[in-house]
Amino acid sequence: MPTQQVTPVSEILAKIQSRQAKIGIIGLGYVGLPLGLLFSEEKFQVLGFDIDANKVNALNSGNSYISATSDYTRLKEVDAVIIAVPTPLNEYHEPDLSYITATGNAIAPNLQANHLVVLESTTYPGTTEEVLLPILEKGNKFGLRAARDGVSNGKVFFLTFSPEREDPGNTSVARKDIPKVVGGLDAQASELAGAMYNAIFRRVVRVSTPAAAEMTKLLENIYRCVNIALVNELKQLSMRMGIDIWEVIDAAATKPFGFHPFYPGPGLGGHCIPVDPFYLSWKAKEFDFRTKFIELAGEINVGMPYHVIASVANALNQKKKALNGSKILMLGMAYKKDIDDLRESPALTIIELLQKEGADVCYNDPYFPTVGRGRKYDLQMKSTPLTNLGQYDCALIVTDHSDYDYKKIVDESQLVVDTRNATKGIKSPKIVRC
Ligand SMILES: NC(=O)c1ccc[n+]([C@@H]2O[C@H](COP(=O)([O-])OP(=O)(O)OC[C@H]3O[C@@H](n4cnc5c(N)ncnc54)[C@H](O)[C@@H]3O)[C@@H](O)[C@H]2O)c1
Repeated sequence: MPTQQVTPVSEILAKIQSRQAKIGIIGLGYVGLPLGLLFSEEKFQVLGFDIDANKVNALNSGNSYISATSDYTRLKEVDAVIIAVPTPLNEYHEPDLSYITATGNAIAPNLQANHLVVLESTTYPGTTEEVLLPILEKGNKFGLRAARDGVSNGKVFFLTFSPEREDPGNTSVARKDIPKVVGGLDAQASELAGAMYNAIFRRVVRVSTPAAAEMTKLLENIYRCVNIALVNELKQLSMRMGIDIWEVIDAAATKPFGFHPFYPGPGLGGHCIPVDPFYLSWKAKEFDFRTKFIELAGEINVGMPYHVIASVANALNQKKKALNGSKILMLGMAYKKDIDDLRESPALTIIELLQKEGADVCYNDPYFPTVGRGRKYDLQMKSTPLTNLGQYDCALIVTDHSDYDYKKIVDESQLVVDTRNATKGIKSPKIVRC
C-alpha cells in the first residue's frame, strides 16, 4: 500500500489561511459555481469538477477564473473537496442520493491524505456519516480513514457537512453575510472547514456533528414550508369570510416581535422547499416516527394549483363562460418573481391542469422566451407578447414579476385572476384575487 507523509493539522490550516490551499468544487450548478467564484475572488485557486461536458467546456473557453474538468484524478491537485451535486426526490417522493453516491465513488479512488471533504448538498441527517463516509473509507487507495476524535496520524481525511443557505433572487442579503453552518466529524474537520469558509463568509457557525448541520438546513426549509402552508390555508378561509389575507398579514407584520410574515401563493416552487422536507419525513420512518406537520403542509401546498384552477373556473362562470374552450394568458412561469428559475414551478402544474380542462393556454414571462422539456413536463411553448390583451377570456397572474405594468394589464384585460396580490392598490371589478 502506498504511504503518505504526515502533515500536522496546523500546517493545513496555515495553507488555508494564507490562501495557498486549492479548492475543488464538485457540481458546478446554482450552488457550486457561485461558491467557486467567491473563493476565486478571495485569491484561492479553484478547480471545478462536473460530469456535464458542456459546462466544463464553457468554463474553460470563457474568461472565468475557475478552471473546470471532468477528470477526477485531478483531485490530487486540490486540498479541499466541496460537493454540491443535486439531491432530488425520486418518482415515489423518496430521497434520490444517487448523485451523492456517484460522486463519493468517483472521489474515493482519488482521495489524498489530509483532504478536507465537505458535503453541501441538502439531505437528511445521517447522510454524511452513513452514506458518504463509508464510500470514501472503503474506496480509497491509501487506507485513509475519516479523522475522528481529534486523532490525526497522517492517514486521515477530514469530513464535514455544511449546508448551502442561498436564497435565489434575494438581493437584500449579500451571500457573504449569510452565516455558514459547519458540522465536522471531529473538531479538526470543523476547524479546517471553518477556516476555509471564513475566507468568504463573515461568520461561521459551528455545530457539534454533521447530522446537526444537516438537520439545521432542514429545519430552516421545513419552517418555511409549514408557515407557507399555514397562510395558504388561512387565505382560503379568509376568502370565504370576505377578508383580505394580504391586508391581515401586513397588519400582523407590524408587530415588532413574535411574528414573521409569510405570503400565500399558487403553490410551492424552487429546488428546496417542495423537496427538502420529504428527505426528513422519509428518514423519520426509520425511527417509527411520522412527521405530521411536513405531511400536512405538503398536502395543503400541493393543493394550491388546484385551488387556482377552481378560482379561474369560478371567475369565468360569473361571466357565463366555461374553462373548456376559454383563452387564458398566464403571466409568469418562474417559481418566484424576478428570477429565471423554473424548477418545481407551480406554473407548470397550472398549465397542465388548465389544458386538461380544455382551456387554450398561452403564457408570458420576460425571463423565459421559450419553455421546452423538463424532467416532468414537455410544453414546447413560446412566450406570447403582452399585446391585444382583450382577446383573452382571462389573464392569470402566477408570478408577480416587477417588470409587469399591472395597471395596464388590468385596464386591457377582460378578467384578471391574481394569485399573488400583484394588483394590490388597483381597484377594478375585473380583478379576482385568489
Ligand atoms: N439552488 C439553490 O438555490 C439551492 C439552495 C440551497 C441548497 N441547494 C442544494 O445544493 C445542491 C446542489 O443544487 P444545485 O441547485 O446547485 O444543483 P444544479 O442541478 O444546479 O447543479 C448540480 C451540478 O452537479 C453536476 N453533477 C451531477 N452529478 C455529478 C457528479 N457525479 N460529478 C460531478 N458533477 C456532477 C451537474 O452536472 C450540475 O452541473 C442540492 O443538494 C440542493 O438541494 C440548492
